[in-house]
Parts: sequence; structure tokens; C-alpha cells
Amino acid sequence: MLQRPRRNRSSAVIRSMVEETRLSVNDMLFPLFVMDGKNVSTEIKSMPGIYRYSTDLLLKEIESCVQLGIQSFALFPQVAESKKDSMATESYKKGSLYLESIYEVTKRFPEISLLTDVAMDPYSSDGHDGIVQGGQILNDETLPVLAKMAIAQAQAGSKLIGPSDMMDGRIGYLRESLDDAGFSNVGIMAYTAKYASAFYGPFRDALESAPKFGDKKTYQMNPANRREALIELELDESEGADFLMVKPALAYLDIISLLRENSHLPIAAYNVSGEYAMVKAAAQQGWIDGEKAMLECLLSIKRAGAQVILTYFAKEFAQLKIS
Ligand code: PBG
Repeated sequence: MLQRPRRNRSSAVIRSMVEETRLSVNDMLFPLFVMDGKNVSTEIKSMPGIYRYSTDLLLKEIESCVQLGIQSFALFPQVAESKKDSMATESYKKGSLYLESIYEVTKRFPEISLLTDVAMDPYSSDGHDGIVQGGQILNDETLPVLAKMAIAQAQAGSKLIGPSDMMDGRIGYLRESLDDAGFSNVGIMAYTAKYASAFYGPFRDALESAPKFGDKKTYQMNPANRREALIELELDESEGADFLMVKPALAYLDIISLLRENSHLPIAAYNVSGEYAMVKAAAQQGWIDGEKAMLECLLSIKRAGAQVILTYFAKEFAQLKIS
């Protein structure tokens, strides 16, 4: 045998020398949940170790993450049912929980990156990402609502918005609206290939944002489709996206690699709530080694081609102090 691949696996040093992919805390973007109140936090049952925080405690949580080296965060609001309506008006109301929280976070931590969420579902009494009329999710009528939301977030201090709604034409519409409002420096991380997935369940528990009827299959993508992701890629690129995202991540590693090969833009992947919950649940049962499984999952996402990993594991990863 001329080739014995095992020679390059024979010691820790050699294995490290030939290692092709390395995780770093710089790859991680940590999604956080904000709730109403003062000095309160509640753990999300289906996401062990992940909490909703009132803004004062959110600032403390971010502080401790920054000390661990995490520099990028996303923020989602849990909105009281009484504040939800069919037009998601709470999403751009001055003084709302989310906008105040964005203001506080960006003022206190001007150096971090905060991805703010643009979609109607946290504020919609229908639990959908767009305006609902007669059981249909309206596309073009939803765009101005998203634009109001994006501009309100930019005014509150956001430098990076994440439209997670999957309406057609949203990236171009938001780019133009932000530019017209004087926010040409605010970036857009497009949820380019966002699939209609069962893995969003725990997130909808966290926000109490599950659809009140039906599902999201008329706007989120069919998990069976790969080439369709390239249509979304072309649209988002031509409409001015700064990042392209694939969501979920683990069941869609081929899509991450497809976008990586077909775009020069940075690719992000969202290791979603259900993917986190599966690892946690199995680890709690003692069925897998939770830490090793976490590292293997994160590694696979980076190896597939993601440069940014949105993951609820970010803090746990940072605590391992891998360098
Ligand atoms: C919808 C949205 C979803 C997530 C974030 N924003 C999916 C959905 O409810 O359809 C899921 C994130 C996760 O599961 O971690 N705008």
C-alpha cells in the first residue's frame, strides 16, 4: 500500500495539522429572546438552557456573552397576545418592547452586531408572517408593513436587519425603503432559503407565535426542493442582500453548500430551535454526549460552507474556550 490515510490520523498533533475546518467563537451568532417586565427571565421548556429576558437582564446576558468573545447576536420579541393584531401594528409602534430593547442594546454595546428580525409573526394575531385575508397570506400588501418595521428598527439603532418572512420581493423593497429613509448603511441578512420545517416548533413556543390556522407552506420553501433555492439566491442577490441565509441548517447542509458554490456573498446558516432541542433532549436522557454532538453539528454547518452560524449553542460553545 502506497497510501495509508491512517498515517495522518496517528497522533493528536498530526490530526490537528491536517484538520480542514476549525470552529471559532467568531463564527457564532447567538439568537436571544426579549420579554416584557423588569428583572424577569423564564426558561423556554422545549429549549433547555435558553431564556426569555426582560431588557435589563438581556443587557446582563449580552455582557456575559461579550466577555466570552461572542460579538454577534439576533433578537426576537415575545409579544403579549393583547398587543397582537392582524396588521402587526405593534411591530413599528414607538416605545414598543422590541424597539426599546434594540435601542438599549445598541446604545450599551455599540461594538457588537445585532441582527433584528423583520416579519409579522411575533405581532400577528393570525400567527403568520404576512397579512391574512380570507385564509390567504397577501404578498404585496405585506411589504409596506415590513418596511415600516425595518425603518423603525433602524431608527432604534439596528445596523443589520433579518427579513425572515419569505414574501416575494421583500429584499428589494426593504433595500429601497431603507435607502429612501437615509439608512443606506443598514445591512440586510436575507433568509434566502427558508424551508417550511418542523424544526421551528420550540421557537414558536418561545414566542407563542404558532400560526392560528394552516401552515406556512405557501411562503416558506418545500423541503424537497434544491434548485428552487437558486432562484431565491438570484433574487436576493439582485435585490441587494448583504448575506444569504439557509434555514434550518442540519437537514439542509446540501443547500448551504449549494449557495456557497453559487454566490460570492457570505453565507449564514440558522441552526434552529428544534435542532438544538433534539441534541439537548437526547443528552438529558444520557443517550448521546451532548457536548460532542454539539461540536459535530456546528462543525458540519461550517464544513458545508456557512461563514456565520446562528445557533442557540453559541454561549455553550464559547464557554469551552476553544481557540
Ligand atoms: C418566522 C421565524 C421562524 C423562526 C424565526 N423567525 C420560523 C417560523 O416560525 O416559521 C425560527 C427560528 C428557530 O426555530 O430557531 N419569522
